[in-house]
Amino acid sequence: MKIILVVGARPNFMKIAPIYRAFEAHEDMESKIVHTGQHYDEKMSDIFFNQLGLPKPHFYLGIGGGSHTYQKANVMLAFEKILNDEQPDLVLVVGDVNATAACSITGVKMGYPVAHVEAGLRSGDRNMPEEVNRIITDAISNYLFVTEHSGLVNLAKENVPDEKVFFVGNVMIDSLVHFREQSKGVGILDELEVSAKEYILMTMHRPANVDHEEGLKSIIQIIKDATSHKKVVFAIHPRTSNNLKKYGLYEEVEQIPGLVLVGPQGYLQFLKLMDNAALIITDSGGIQEETTFLQVPCMTFRNSTERPITVELGTNFLMQDLNPHSVKEQMDAIMAGHAKQGIIPPLWDGKAAERIRDILYQEHQSKA
Ligand code: UD1
Repeated sequence: MKIILVVGARPNFMKIAPIYRAFEAHEDMESKIVHTGQHYDEKMSDIFFNQLGLPKPHFYLGIGGGSHTYQKANVMLAFEKILNDEQPDLVLVVGDVNATAACSITGVKMGYPVAHVEAGLRSGDRNMPEEVNRIITDAISNYLFVTEHSGLVNLAKENVPDEKVFFVGNVMIDSLVHFREQSKGVGILDELEVSAKEYILMTMHRPANVDHEEGLKSIIQIIKDATSHKKVVFAIHPRTSNNLKKYGLYEEVEQIPGLVLVGPQGYLQFLKLMDNAALIITDSGGIQEETTFLQVPCMTFRNSTERPITVELGTNFLMQDLNPHSVKEQMDAIMAGHAKQGIIPPLWDGKAAERIRDILYQEHQSKA
């Protein structure tokens, strides 16, 4: 069974790694990785391939950034050629980035079965580019692999037939489980001169938060409030640093006392930073899940989440009101001991990729 695995941007790499490993371990399965090139820097891409034990992508499309139409159109054209040459038995996409939607459309239109891993998540906010990618991909894929109960409910509401839907757990947590021990050996805390549980970790990169001056100013205020509790490690995404520079705010950030400003981190470094943080403030999707698994308090600077289990069972708090004052109130409460311990959601056990492999192999055999 020949499978094409698609990756494009940073959050895809840790989801594909366990799937690639599981397929490689099966004697009748062969998988090849296509990287669309949406994320291309050493720190946004290559370091993940190295640390996660992925091979160099078998195909690198090099499409890079640009408008979403530019990215998707060019990815589709290049991916069509690959599918024509490779004639796989299946195309597998993960998550909700532009590559996910572009390659699922190309695959389905060319008559290949498509599997979507991390299906059914919905924030209800179609202003998020990821939400549109999720809806498109789920509407057309043949196999939908779900990470949490809400995904089953959402797909049922959208009239997706039950036989296409499989609740398998979370492949991103597979990576976390696999690499957690190894991450303990990296020296990132010493390097940044912070001690375990004595710092707050921050990331921010959503266009809705960082593409305008008001959002950036809110983030600066949040950093200042957080440094009144503990040192703050801010692992800044290129979108955010570019925009801070564009609005002339970067220097103000650099000068905040108690702030350790660093660029994007490797997988192992960031895992260690999460594992040892007193609190994480973020607008990421994936970090909500990782902190839930690690049972580290998380405040998500968004007013909706496509991953409600992280609030219901996990350690996550949503900031309904994107106002630095309410963030401060919540942060003060957490630092005063009012965090949630949470529980680990069902099937987040490090074995999701194996379940996906076994289901796909069985389906392939039954149709052969
Ligand atoms: C993308 C995903 C988002 C994911 C995020 C994680 C979509 C719609 N969005 O958003 O879901 O949470 O990745 O990082 O697919 N840049 C670099 N170097 C790189 C990559 C990007 O400098 O290697 C710069 C680009 O110049 C670009 C900016 O960062 O202007 C943003 O990158 P882009 O890929 O457009 O979107 P993300 O915000 O990263």
